[in-house]
Amino acid sequence: MAQIAQSALAMAYMRSLDIKVSRDTLAQHLLTHEARALGDDWLSVYPGLARHGALRCRYIEDTAITYINRDVSQMINVAAGLNTFPYRHPDAARLTHYAEFDLPEMIEHKRGIIDRFAREGKIKQPLVKVDYVATDLTEDIALSFEKLGWDWSKPTIVVMEGISYYVPLASLQRVITTISGFLAPGSPVLFDYFRPEDRKTPLYQKIHQTIGLQKEPFLTFLDSAGVQALFDGSTIVSDRLITDIEKDYCPDRS
Ligand SMILES: C[S@@+](CC[C@H](N)C(=O)[O-])C[C@H]1O[C@@H](n2cnc3c(N)ncnc32)[C@H](O)[C@@H]1O
Repeated sequence: MAQIAQSALAMAYMRSLDIKVSRDTLAQHLLTHEARALGDDWLSVYPGLARHGALRCRYIEDTAITYINRDVSQMINVAAGLNTFPYRHPDAARLTHYAEFDLPEMIEHKRGIIDRFAREGKIKQPLVKVDYVATDLTEDIALSFEKLGWDWSKPTIVVMEGISYYVPLASLQRVITTISGFLAPGSPVLFDYFRPEDRKTPLYQKIHQTIGLQKEPFLTFLDSAGVQALFDGSTIVSDRLITDIEKDYCPDRS
């Protein structure tokens, strides 16, 4: 069995370190000793990562909820990793359909850990049924949508958090084209990215050194024009830096 992505564990660790911002009270149960050690190594060069990792999840989640409030009731988390939204957020119960796509090893790991923690009472059963769909984003992902068999005439929220840089640009373009073919008008794609200039930062260099040289290289960097081109024909509603979003959520930073 292939090793699961350490980046997903490290980001769950960040959410567990700033629960006030992330509101992810379950992340702490999903961690390993290695995840903490990796996360601490990243934090040694960029202490702000705990808050920014927590905030990335919180902002995407809060944005998803604005669509749930508009009666969008289908949601897919693409490369969900150890995201815990359907297990803890009351608004998850308002969805009629919820799916998580990820590599088979991550899905197997997550299902195993969630089932065990549910038996031990550490984690609740999900508030909405979770359709886990093993998906490799470097391959054709249309089958993953077809397997779900949902009503694609209805809008769907698609979350792509912490994934755009881990797949080659050509694959990312294919993923967005395929997703666009299924989604009805009014469907948001919630997406984050690293910019070319971020390569110069100590954090990027540390990530590259700790996981990039081994299994999880950053492959794709985008600027605002690149995002516009990627989502050709779609409206970009918002494109903000995490340091800007932080001012909204964390008054100590404004
Ligand atoms: C940094 S983690 C992000 C996880 C989660 N979205 C979060 O924000 O915490 C990257 C995730 O992408 C998944 N991933 C990496 N390459 C992938 C691929 N080719 N196809 C599908 N998932 C992939 C990993 O398994 C991992 O769960």
